[in-house]
Amino acid sequence: MKILVTGATGYIGSHTVVELLNNNYDVVGIDDFSNSKKEVVDKIKEITKKDFKFYEGNVCCKQTLNKIFDENKIDAVIHFAGYKAVGESVSKPLMYYRNNIDSTLTLLETMNEHNVKKIAFSSSATVYGKPEKLPIKEDFPLSTTNPYGTTKLVIEGILRDLYKSDNSWSIAILRYFNPIGAHESGLIGENPNDIPNNLMPYIVKVANKELDCLNVFGNDYDTIDGTGVRDYIHVVDLANGHVKALEKILKETGCDAYNLGTGRGYSVLELVNTFSKVNNVDVNYKIVGRRPGDIGACFADTSYALDKLGFKTTKGIEEMCRDSYNFVKKSK
Ligand code: UFG
Repeated sequence: MKILVTGATGYIGSHTVVELLNNNYDVVGIDDFSNSKKEVVDKIKEITKKDFKFYEGNVCCKQTLNKIFDENKIDAVIHFAGYKAVGESVSKPLMYYRNNIDSTLTLLETMNEHNVKKIAFSSSATVYGKPEKLPIKEDFPLSTTNPYGTTKLVIEGILRDLYKSDNSWSIAILRYFNPIGAHESGLIGENPNDIPNNLMPYIVKVANKELDCLNVFGNDYDTIDGTGVRDYIHVVDLANGHVKALEKILKETGCDAYNLGTGRGYSVLELVNTFSKVNNVDVNYKIVGRRPGDIGACFADTSYALDKLGFKTTKGIEEMCRDSYNFVKKSK
């Protein structure tokens, strides 16, 4: 089976390519390196001791996609490519709508023309907006608070409409909770160049003395210690969730959404303290005001993904903290 992976050198894409190769799938990757490095292609080959075909290009480019589908007999697609910074999407909404929606439409049109009708799409728990209760189930109402989230919601709608119009499609919408961690080899992971927006990359930079102090956004939420609670999932578990989703779409037609999380929430301070303990390193932090748009707690009901995909996470919070730091120490 030959799988096209868009955004193949990104944080989640690269870990998924590794797991696909480990599971003996043939992989064709595409990335424009807008938020990743060229060397990731070789790192993936080094980890898996396997080769895969890679195209440098943008998924909005119909010509590039036609070339890929003409040159390779693709069986299914996993679509990661897209911009993902919440704050940037607020200041540059047109850039987000153009890139994330245009790339998906171009991809779906090209797939249709080549009669490839199986796709797994990277969505996000952000589509649940401010959930009324926890844990979050897939049938909860959907809403968003920023353009990034809206691109995910719009694309989910496009995929559902596509399936309604043509029941021969197989579509898995994967709603990620908070991916952290890195491959245990330390060869691939997440290390943004700019000041990070997300918690774990920020903790890592403070531990590494690249940044002075973590700002903890609020300690007055209704949570265990007042700080925000999230469902952190090891990126390798998340990658394996894609392998499970792929098995499903290769087998059956349909269009369905699945939560990919652990089902367990940890607070900011729990994560900081676990990180310090397992890595034996100090993480300076101070409590500051809430970040606008944040919710107090967010964690998944994982029973549907277990039931329908057989997906279960295996890696705990300590492994996530260890592997996040290991990657950054190794890449220095
Ligand atoms: N936090 C801090 N300090 C920081 C960064 C984050 O205290 O410097 C806190 C946040 O307030 C929150 C928790 O850490 O309580 C996690 O924040 P992240 O920014 O890491 O993650 P979010 O849950 O806010 O958002 C992430 C992704 C989104 C995605 C969403 C899905 O960034 O793209 O999860 O639920 F949509």
